[in-house]
Amino acid sequence: MTIPLLTAAALTVDLGTRNPVRILDGISFELQAGRTLGVVGESGCGKSMTALALIGLVPEPHRIGGSLRLGDVELNTLDAERRRLLRGKRVAMIFQEPMTALNPVVSVGQQIAEMLEVHEAASTSEARRRAIALLGQVGIAAPGERAPAFPHQLSGGMRQRVMIAMAIACRPQILIADEPTTALDVSVQAQILDLLLELQRREGMAMLFISHNLGVISEVSDEIMVMYAGRIAEQGPAAEVLARPTHPYTRGLITTMPDIRHRQRLLPVIPGAVPDPRHRGQGCSFAARCAEAEDICSEAVPALRGHLHRAACVHA
Ligand SMILES: Nc1ncnc2c1ncn2[C@@H]1O[C@H](COP(=O)(O)OP(=O)(O)OP(=O)(O)O)[C@@H](O)[C@H]1O
Ligand code: SF4
Ligand SMILES: [Mg+2]
Repeated sequence: MTIPLLTAAALTVDLGTRNPVRILDGISFELQAGRTLGVVGESGCGKSMTALALIGLVPEPHRIGGSLRLGDVELNTLDAERRRLLRGKRVAMIFQEPMTALNPVVSVGQQIAEMLEVHEAASTSEARRRAIALLGQVGIAAPGERAPAFPHQLSGGMRQRVMIAMAIACRPQILIADEPTTALDVSVQAQILDLLLELQRREGMAMLFISHNLGVISEVSDEIMVMYAGRIAEQGPAAEVLARPTHPYTRGLITTMPDIRHRQRLLPVIPGAVPDPRHRGQGCSFAARCAEAEDICSEAVPALRGHLHRAACVHA
């Protein structure tokens, strides 16, 4: 069997020192080369924290438990410097709001070129040439003329394209895309999705794609992981999870799923809200919102059951 590119096993993240709060609880998944794992759930479910744990940017003070392996190398026990180097070469991330990730006072071409100089020891002229080529690759017209522009001189869609160019500059094996289209207009969202899928095919990257929008997730994913309140509610092959969802939360997300290419005005919503990680209770954290809840549901956290397609529900 081939070793997955990335394996998380019973990953936990606790934030704070005095009264640490368990933000992620028992996250396990595998990411295979060239495949896309879609991570979906409402706001506050732990999607971004999962990404930050993978890339080593969980806010301090924190404690990370469980196992996180890049290929066959365990990251959680590696010293910080080696971990940073290993991740830096293999994993890149696109953030939701490009303005916070881009340097406002450096031209976009220069920002990409500097990355190539630092990470790939490219010469100044080589880095500049490659930066312009990358801008072209992500669909920016007349890239040579755009390269001297500062981030604020570009549209939101263009800035996200620049972020993508920076992310793929060093040819990562794994691309993490955290809500890469959420801040954009609907028409631009579809263009950016198409671009990511095309780049993925061309470069053979694996992708961890995060969105609160199951419509988007269903378009891009091979596997789906549904998160709820810092835990996995359901996971499995995308077609399986979408056609035969077994967790009531997944079914709720499917019922309220917007079609990204034709945005509907009034969408139904799942009544209630995601609990704060401090107040998850001792049983199923979805119980307060679940139409199928029974007494047994609030007794203990339901374990993930199933083999390839798994769900954490007493009825699964
Ligand atoms: N720096 C922090 N300090 C304390 N709690 C945090 C911090 N960052 C995130 N959290 C908490 O961790 C939980 C998971 O947050 P996370 O940002 O991963 O959610 P998310 O699924 O990405 O949501 P969204 O869709 O809004 O981006 C939330 O309850 C959030 O309040
Ligand atoms: S365990 Fe109970 S409360 Fe939780 S999702 Fe299943 S039926 Fe609903
Ligand atoms: Mg987030």
